[in-house]
Amino acid sequence: MKIISLFSGAGGLDLGLIQAGNEIIWANDIDKDAVATYKENIGEHIICDDIKNIDITALPVADVVVGGFPCQGFSQANRLRTLDDDRNRLYRFFYTTIKEKRPKFFIAENVKGILSLGHGEAIKQIIADFEEAGYITSVNLVNMADYGIPQTRQRVLIIGQRKDLGDTLRFVFPSPTHSNKGNLPQWISIKTAIDHFPDPDLENAVLNHIYSAYKVEYRNFTGHRKTDPDKPSPTILARGNGKGGVCAIPHYNGKRRLTIRESASIQTFPEDFHFCGTMNSCYRQIGNAVPVAFAKLLGLELIRLEKEEKL
Ligand SMILES: C[S@@+](CC[C@H](N)C(=O)[O-])C[C@H]1O[C@@H](n2cnc3c(N)ncnc32)[C@H](O)[C@@H]1O
Repeated sequence: MKIISLFSGAGGLDLGLIQAGNEIIWANDIDKDAVATYKENIGEHIICDDIKNIDITALPVADVVVGGFPCQGFSQANRLRTLDDDRNRLYRFFYTTIKEKRPKFFIAENVKGILSLGHGEAIKQIIADFEEAGYITSVNLVNMADYGIPQTRQRVLIIGQRKDLGDTLRFVFPSPTHSNKGNLPQWISIKTAIDHFPDPDLENAVLNHIYSAYKVEYRNFTGHRKTDPDKPSPTILARGNGKGGVCAIPHYNGKRRLTIRESASIQTFPEDFHFCGTMNSCYRQIGNAVPVAFAKLLGLELIRLEKEEKL
C-alpha cells in the first residue's frame, strides 16, 4: 500500500512496513539527525521540517497514514478543548491529515500511558474524534516480547479503518508469536539477540558499536536495574540519564552500558543500518523507534488487505 509517514524518526516503523512490501510515498520529521539516518538507510523521500510548516492539502493521496503523537495536552478537565490545546498540535496534525486525506487505514503508535491519561478520558476522546471523522478504531496494548522482539517494550497501537470499507475489508491485528508461558515459542532473550557482537573495547568493524560512559549503578529504577541475560531486554529508552541525555540499558556483564548497535539490534534494526549524529542522538533515535520486526507484521497485514481488495 502507499503510505504517508508522520513523525517518522529514524524510520523503524517505516522500514518494517517497507520490508513487508509497502511503499512510503511521503515522510517527515523535525530532527535533522533522524532525517539524515532515514535518508542514508531508507530513502530521500523524507522532508526535514516542523510539521506546523507543512501544508496538509499538498500531501499525496495515500492508502494509509502512520505515525505517533505525544499527548500531554489531554486531560479530564479540558476534554472538550483537547483539539484546541497547543500541546496537542501534533495530535491535531495527525487527526487533520486523516480528515483531509481520507486514507483507508491509519496506524498510530503511542506509549502505554495514553490509556490512563486523564483517567482514561484521553483515549476515549481520541476514539470519539476518529469515529466522528469516519473511522472505526481499535486500541491494542502490545508487549513486543510477545512478537519475538527481545524486549519487554509495551506500546499502544491505534488502528483506524475507514467506515465505508465495511466488513469485507477488516484489519486483523497480528496475533502474538511468542510467550513466556504456554504453547508458543519462548520469549527471545537479550543474550540471544546480542551475544554475537565483539567486545566494543577491542578493534572491530561493527557499525555504531560504541557505548555511553554513563556509569552502571544498580539503584532499582528504570535504566539502573541488573539486566538478566536470559530474559528479553527492558525497554530501550529515548531519554533519562538525568543530564538531558539518554539512559542506555546496562549490559548483562554489569561492566558497561549497551552500545548503540546492541540497542539497535534489540529494536530489530538490521546490522547494516547506520545511525547518524552524536552518540546521544543515535541512542534517542533508537529508543524512539517502533521495533522493525513488529512493524513488518503490521505491514504484512496491509499487504494481505490489499490483495483481498483486489480479489
Ligand atoms: C516516537 S518518534 C517516532 C519514531 C518512528 N515512528 C520510528 O519508528 O522510528 C517521534 C518523532 O516525532 C518527531 N517530532 C516531534 N515534534 C515534531 C514536529 N513538530 N514536527 C515534526 N516531527 C516532530 C521527533 O523528532 C521524533 O523523531
